[in-house]
Amino acid sequence: MRVTVIGSGYVGLVASVCFSELGHDVISIDNDAHKIALLSAGEVPIYEKYLPELLEKHLGKRLKFSTDIVEAVRASSVVFIAVGTPATPEGDSDLSYVEAVARALASAINDYKVVVEKSTVPVFTSEWIRKIMLLNGVSHELFDVASNPEFLREGTAVRDFLFPDRIVLGADTKRSGAMLQEIYAPLSSGKFYQSNSLVPTPAEAKIPPLVITTSTKSAELIKHASNAFLAMKISFINAVANVCEAVGADINEVCEGIGTDSRIGRRFLNPGIGYGGSCFPKDLRSFQAVAKDAGYEFRLLQEIIAVNEQQLTRFMRKLRTALWTLRGKRLAVLGLAFKGGTDDIRESPALCLVQSLIKEGCQVRAYDPAAMARTQEYLVSPNLEFAASPYAAAEGADGLLILTDWEEFTHLDLPRLRKLMAYPIVLDGRNLYDPQLMAQNGFTYYSVGRAFAMPPQTTAVQTQSLA
Ligand code: UDX
Repeated sequence: MRVTVIGSGYVGLVASVCFSELGHDVISIDNDAHKIALLSAGEVPIYEKYLPELLEKHLGKRLKFSTDIVEAVRASSVVFIAVGTPATPEGDSDLSYVEAVARALASAINDYKVVVEKSTVPVFTSEWIRKIMLLNGVSHELFDVASNPEFLREGTAVRDFLFPDRIVLGADTKRSGAMLQEIYAPLSSGKFYQSNSLVPTPAEAKIPPLVITTSTKSAELIKHASNAFLAMKISFINAVANVCEAVGADINEVCEGIGTDSRIGRRFLNPGIGYGGSCFPKDLRSFQAVAKDAGYEFRLLQEIIAVNEQQLTRFMRKLRTALWTLRGKRLAVLGLAFKGGTDDIRESPALCLVQSLIKEGCQVRAYDPAAMARTQEYLVSPNLEFAASPYAAAEGADGLLILTDWEEFTHLDLPRLRKLMAYPIVLDGRNLYDPQLMAQNGFTYYSVGRAFAMPPQTTAVQTQSLA
């Protein structure tokens, strides 16, 4: 099929490249001429596995980039809208980019098109797109508006697209529903999985994926509700971790105990310093605003957000317990991205903590495998420097903080780290290590929802002095 994707940001770019991989002819549109020039030259502006390889494979063949929306729309039968929907200061979604696209579509449409929302948008957006297009003179039989939310996680977005748990197709007419089905037919028929894709099949992949057809409004709600539910799991387990700390229980054991109930599930029950990123924080506030507009006060969402914010305060309190005063302390920070596997620092809890540390007068030396360049652009302070490795960050440090769950941080050379640090104190905001192992390696170790651990000799010294 001939497909246009408007918006070459995170969602739009991954969708464009993956639609090409499914065999469609794709034009990816953006009004940022510089970005389009970069992409046309084969350069990928974001850090995402398999994206460079797939771009190279399809660029100039099934995939092209352009700033000309009119030409692209006229050449396509399906148009995906994947432009940004940033949060307003009040927390609801700013849909002005979506509205601008709807107007541009109205001026371009010459024959029947399906216009599909791919960005995360509040319920009723499809109706607004429809109204704007009608108001701008497009005849109602020339288009339908549908919703096809994405559930991509940064870092594994290409894999999530090609091997989804489910595909949600929200359409209110048979014609638009059939065209959406056709787009995803390579996945839903299983045909794609017999081809030789350069993206390896994940062990847990559901092949072929489930296709769920719904009304457009339900599809819009599915996206908001999915993200809110996942955020709720994280805040729930963080709240339980806080209780574990208070009563001396172990959150890992509790997670195992509850996560193995198939009704609950183990995934998204990892405690830590809270969720961040471009989706959860924004989508929760937007969902809250949607519910409020509809006359329902969704208090549970408020509580999810509050627990998430408290995790940062609690971590700072833990840091004070470990180091006493903070002014002038030299701290090594491992991780700046909002999670491992990405260079994205949007709403990153790690970055929030770094900002608090700087405010407290700490000297921070940070390392992140991918997010240092972005952080350098965003945060400049004489109290913040960057290191070339976790070990360079740890040199002479009074304490080391693990703030992002990068795989690289799960197997650090502990004896080397111990030797480099001035004081062997580790605060792990992602529970990457076994407390006993850390203690055996000479560290005083604090994590989330578990008792802190100390090296055996320190315990002996403490016991002696107590005696
Ligand atoms: C999320 C959704 O998962 C995805 O379906 C949607 O399309 C976009 O938003 P993403 O923002 O890429 O994806 O990150 P995700 O992997 O979901 O993690 C979100 C945040 O939650 C991260 O800060 C992560 O560290 C945190 N998290 C996740 C936890 O603290 N504990 C967990 O158990 C899981």
